[in-house]
Amino acid sequence: MKLPPEVTIYEVGPRDGLQNEARNVPTADKIRFIDALVASGIRAIEITSFVSPKWIPQLADAAEVARGVARPVGVRMSALVPNRRGLDTALASGMKEIAVFLSASETHNKKNINKTIAETFDAFSEVIPPALAANVPVRAYVSTVYGCPYEGEVDPDKAVELTTRLRDMGVYEISLGDTIGVANPAQVEDVLGRVLAKHPAKSVAVHFHDTQGTALANCLVALQMGITTIDAAAGGLGGCPYAPGASGNLATEDVVAMLHAMGVKTGIDLDKLTEASRTASTFVGHELPSKYLKAHLGKQSRARRRTEQMGQ
Ligand code: HMG
Ligand code: MG
Repeated sequence: MKLPPEVTIYEVGPRDGLQNEARNVPTADKIRFIDALVASGIRAIEITSFVSPKWIPQLADAAEVARGVARPVGVRMSALVPNRRGLDTALASGMKEIAVFLSASETHNKKNINKTIAETFDAFSEVIPPALAANVPVRAYVSTVYGCPYEGEVDPDKAVELTTRLRDMGVYEISLGDTIGVANPAQVEDVLGRVLAKHPAKSVAVHFHDTQGTALANCLVALQMGITTIDAAAGGLGGCPYAPGASGNLATEDVVAMLHAMGVKTGIDLDKLTEASRTASTFVGHELPSKYLKAHLGKQSRARRRTEQMGQ
């Protein structure tokens, strides 16, 4: 099977994961979660969003999180930024990388950031050039490339058009988002094939939500097409509050376990990562959807029971 020797996991749990939680997670827990993810070997992580707290109250403590995290050398930390105000706060809070975002469908874009796609590019022109001038690399997301919760089907060439415009503006990587988790492997081959005909694989990442259980299959197709950056959230946390029906992201431990089993390196310690997810599940107050995490916790509790029985 044609696979890359190594893959970069771009961890979005602290941002895409926690933005969708009903419970207000204390800043100190968010920081502990980020520290635990970094300790597991994750080297690229989106820690928060500098968006309007009226729209995403869960991440209203973005500046405190950004100021509170340790920043070990060799770990890239990024945050979502929707406008110039978000950029200014992000830079003042010590962020050294940012991510901008828009959707391939007008209706989701409007519901998510209250702008048309054209207006979003106006906002980008106030964010991307000053960020690059400050030596801050910019990543971008194109959401809903495989389907929109409001419009249904999305023209696959929209992903190509938006990727081209974003790369022309100096964005270093575009993450193609299956925001509501409707993509199937054949569709991934189609959309990615179109994008990769125009752009190098190293400038493209994949971002799958696992609503229908197709995220790992979609990743496998992407890997075979040369993609080497995969977005994922520890425990499978997450979803976009402005995309009804969007459930958790692809779980980091699920994709890391699959990659390691196939001999693909990630630099991540799976046990430490699973422990970070277990901690996250305690502070969000519910079970997380990751299959690997469930299997691991099940194994631990069976081993505990066996030890207790032997001691009786
Ligand atoms: P708006 O209401 O049109 O704009 O929101 P506004 O300028 O009138 O701002 C509203 C209020 O927010 C004002 O406060 C602003 O000052 C304030 P007020 O005057 O009413 O007191 N405000 C801000 N505060 C802090 N930081 C800022 C900021 N900007 C304005 N940066 C806006 C427009 C874009 C701000 C809003 O729609 C917004 O913040 N949207 C964010 C939505 C979001 O974060 N969605 C989830 C992330 S996207 C996603 O999850 C998909 C992804 O994972 C990929 C995938 O899965 O496909 C990336
Ligand atoms: Mg997402």
